[in-house]
Amino acid sequence: MKKWYAVIGDPIAHSLSPFMHDYWFEEHGIDATYIPVHVQPFELENAFNAMKTLGVSGFNITLPHKQSIIPFLSKLDETAVVMNAVNTVTFNGRQYIGWNTDGDGFVRSLSAQPVTLNEKVLIIGAGGAARGIAFALKRANYKDVTITNRTYRRAKELAEASGSSALTIKDAELSLADFSIIIQTTSVGLAKDEALPISLENLSIGSLVADIIYNPLETPFLKAAQEKNCTIMNGVGMFVYQGAIAFEKWTGIKPDTEKMIEIITEKLG
Ligand code: ATR
Repeated sequence: MKKWYAVIGDPIAHSLSPFMHDYWFEEHGIDATYIPVHVQPFELENAFNAMKTLGVSGFNITLPHKQSIIPFLSKLDETAVVMNAVNTVTFNGRQYIGWNTDGDGFVRSLSAQPVTLNEKVLIIGAGGAARGIAFALKRANYKDVTITNRTYRRAKELAEASGSSALTIKDAELSLADFSIIIQTTSVGLAKDEALPISLENLSIGSLVADIIYNPLETPFLKAAQEKNCTIMNGVGMFVYQGAIAFEKWTGIKPDTEKMIEIITEKLG
């Protein structure tokens, strides 16, 4: 029988996940489909019960349900526990298990670049996205991770929780040349004409500078890094890899991420 998967969120119309997963199902000859479902917060429990009744094989969760889905699940994987947020649910025939593939998605996209585990990494931001990435970098054995954030207290808390170091924005700006991988995780850059979250004046030529934002493809932060002759990486890779990890959990198949990054980049370009 045809299997079905879903993504639930509010809003959901612009999600690229249905395109991506349907593409991979077709490519691998899997008889399944992936449906976007618009679920408002007050409908979440009913929506989950309906999906269970209708035999959903797995689903993704996006804003604003990543935390509120948790009480309905049978158990959480460690990736979801450290984030207190779920973006992927698997079903093993008895239990619905919550995972969070966002941080590992970013780290896989980073590891596809010519980087080593000994490089000094700077994360800008200390919110949910930064948290996922900080823990995923540690799981992947990156040795030297530092967090900086507008509100220093939050950088310090995340650093302590994830076994990383913390710097104020000012100190991070002064020592920016020490870092060969810089990851921008704040929402700065989503809106036009925002100031950069950190000055890139002291950036070393040839550093890898990443932004988790993928729409726009090139944020002012990445443009500034490119002007400093750095390699830039936008958030398309993170988006594709977080989906690829979910797809792998559901089907046991590793999909072609490189081709998908090209397709999505073209769609957003
Ligand atoms: P998310 O889950 O997307 O990471 P979040 O938990 O609200 O969202 O975190 C947002 C991050 O962006 C925080 O690091 C925030 O800094 P503060 O902790 O100081 O609030 C950062 N951020 C948001 N707007 C910013 C701005 N204009 N300049 C610098 N940092 C900003």
